[in-house]
Amino acid sequence: MSRIAYVNGQYVPHQHACVHIEDRGYQFADGVYEVVPIVGGKLIDEKGHLDRLWRSMNELKMDAPMKRRPMQLVMAEVIRRNGIENGLIYMQVTRGVAPRDHPFPKNAQPALVMTAKRLSMEKAAQKAEKGVTVITVPDIRWQRCDIKSVSLLPNILAKQEAVEKGAYEAFQFDGEGNITEGSSTNAWIIDQDGTLITRPTSNSILAGITRAALIELLKEKGIKLELRSFTVDELRNAREVFLTSSSSYVQPVVQVDDKVIGNGKPGSVSLELRTIFKDYMDR
Ligand code: PDD
Repeated sequence: MSRIAYVNGQYVPHQHACVHIEDRGYQFADGVYEVVPIVGGKLIDEKGHLDRLWRSMNELKMDAPMKRRPMQLVMAEVIRRNGIENGLIYMQVTRGVAPRDHPFPKNAQPALVMTAKRLSMEKAAQKAEKGVTVITVPDIRWQRCDIKSVSLLPNILAKQEAVEKGAYEAFQFDGEGNITEGSSTNAWIIDQDGTLITRPTSNSILAGITRAALIELLKEKGIKLELRSFTVDELRNAREVFLTSSSSYVQPVVQVDDKVIGNGKPGSVSLELRTIFKDYMDR
């Protein structure tokens, strides 16, 4: 089945999907996005992702390209036309096309693009069984990391450094030596006493939808969680480390920089939480 993209009102073959050279997303990174998991043909936490998309647009004083209900219909149609059973939908809203000038344009129509891609659940499961490695890097981002902006240069620099060092992800640390989050994931640890810890939401991190769903599942199961910042040192000396995101779900981490976590295999609690999250997605 050939891939189909949605671009400003039209469904077009993926290889011919284009936006204008004066789209403000292209020129200024003046846009926001969402990545929503699809499992068994179903969108996971669609409401949470749409709430966050609307929040991102509001924070940037950007008009929505359409109302919520029609957007949901487009999302469903993109999934249907691409025949996706398991994968991701990517949606991006920019302030639209206008002659290049820094202030907001007066009459631009916000632009909406959506694509979908397949993901292999088997490959994801294999990665979880093995665990991944992360590096730590200084967080050089701006003060509104709560907005899911397409302006991702610091994130891609961090991820590239991870890739060049043979790692899967880069966890960023702030000026106080506390971990903020990964370049495209939220960071979690389990300390030597077995306490689960993740950083509270603020302008310093993206309020991950996977993170929020997992916090609810922990409450349901009566598993204690401490919402607080943790240092690079605590990360390196943790009993278990894992990360969460819409594309990784719950992914155990087995090495941080040169420090092996536990016995170098995914921790039992991380694997249990992955199973709990998988069951939640299969509900
Ligand atoms: N990334 N932190 C950052 C900086 C992110 O970019 C993401 C998501 C997350 C996890 O959020 P969620 O659980 O809602 O996916 C945390 C997406 C997957 C991406 O950029 O591809």
